[in-house]
Amino acid sequence: MGVIGCGKKACSAHIPALVKLENVDLRYLSDINEERLRELKEKYPQCETFTDYRDLLSCGELDGVVICTHTNLHCKIAKEFLLKGIDVFTEKPVAMNYTEAFETAEIAREKGRVFDAGVCLRFASSLEKVRNIIQWGEIGNVYHVSCCFRFSKSIPGAGSDYTKKSKSGGGVLIDLGVHNFDAIDYCLGGVNWKSASGKCISSPLMASGENSKAGYVMESEIKSDVEDYAFGTAQSESGITLSFEGAWAQNIGEEEKYIDFLGDKGAVRFNYYRGYTFWGKGGEKLGECENCYDGKMYENELRSFADDILKRRFESRNAVKNVLSSAKLIDMIYASSDDK
Ligand SMILES: NC(=O)c1ccc[n+]([C@@H]2O[C@H](COP(=O)([O-])OP(=O)(O)OC[C@H]3O[C@@H](n4cnc5c(N)ncnc54)[C@H](O)[C@@H]3O)[C@@H](O)[C@H]2O)c1
Repeated sequence: MGVIGCGKKACSAHIPALVKLENVDLRYLSDINEERLRELKEKYPQCETFTDYRDLLSCGELDGVVICTHTNLHCKIAKEFLLKGIDVFTEKPVAMNYTEAFETAEIAREKGRVFDAGVCLRFASSLEKVRNIIQWGEIGNVYHVSCCFRFSKSIPGAGSDYTKKSKSGGGVLIDLGVHNFDAIDYCLGGVNWKSASGKCISSPLMASGENSKAGYVMESEIKSDVEDYAFGTAQSESGITLSFEGAWAQNIGEEEKYIDFLGDKGAVRFNYYRGYTFWGKGGEKLGECENCYDGKMYENELRSFADDILKRRFESRNAVKNVLSSAKLIDMIYASSDDK
């Protein structure tokens, strides 16, 4: 396998996970940053390094690539490898919008290639427990989902690629909303969103850059054109409603990160992303787990990608077709916000 885009996430999660997997031989690393490549070569001498990812297209023994660049390059690079007959995993968000994700998934289908998405929460042991509670009917029919991803100091570097629409596709909604909407989709066994309304705001905190995430550098000249705050509602084809509120930054010192699934027999709260609380009728507490996350979501999702390649599976948990509905929802929210 090869990794394209060896930045923060690839270095902290994907590369160490791939090196650990018994059925993966990580051979190729690509980044435009030469210094990063030199450091990686020292750490992983078994890997060849390339500043131009297109050199990987002619590496005869390559089965799959893991793309961890920013969003604007995910599908562009994915298409080149899929057309060459190489399987692809790309980090979230898969694409800048639904159309790009759909078109790339179609190329994968036509070429008979695996095209997997970074949907790490689908591989978190804690979310699996919440999904089981819902799928086993413990809370009855779910009629509403309330989702909150409000962070205090999590602007991923004001002025960085995360905050430039041309690179990221958007701000907190596409960056963190995508995790939450995907978790909802997974727990409910697939949701078709039919309408959505929302508002995306670039707050004064964004302009000051004061609430940047630790470890993320604030660029000297801040040029951010995405939202750091978003809220809205949506409705599914089957009538389930959704309300959400998300923030990279806020001047409330306590962060709120949960997904509440409200059912006619009970309710369950996913305490993003470590545990859950589960109530029956009348709010009686029936179960709780403060931390049932085993720390293996990245490793598990990349193992699944490797298994998809080896077993020629196209319908697994991380198949890109599973994230198309969330991509459509995000498009609808942005469109609604732009309309106002
Ligand atoms: N699943 C998760 O929980 C999670 C968490 C964080 C980030 N991510 C996603 O991972 C991706 C990367 O995020 P990050 O924080 O590592 O960003 P980053 O900026 O640290 O890394 C991006 C890397 O891509 C490299 N790059 C840019 N153009 C390239 C090209 N043409 N060829 C090869 N490399 C190129 C950059 O030099 C950089 O090293 C984003 O899509 C982000 O949304 C996912």
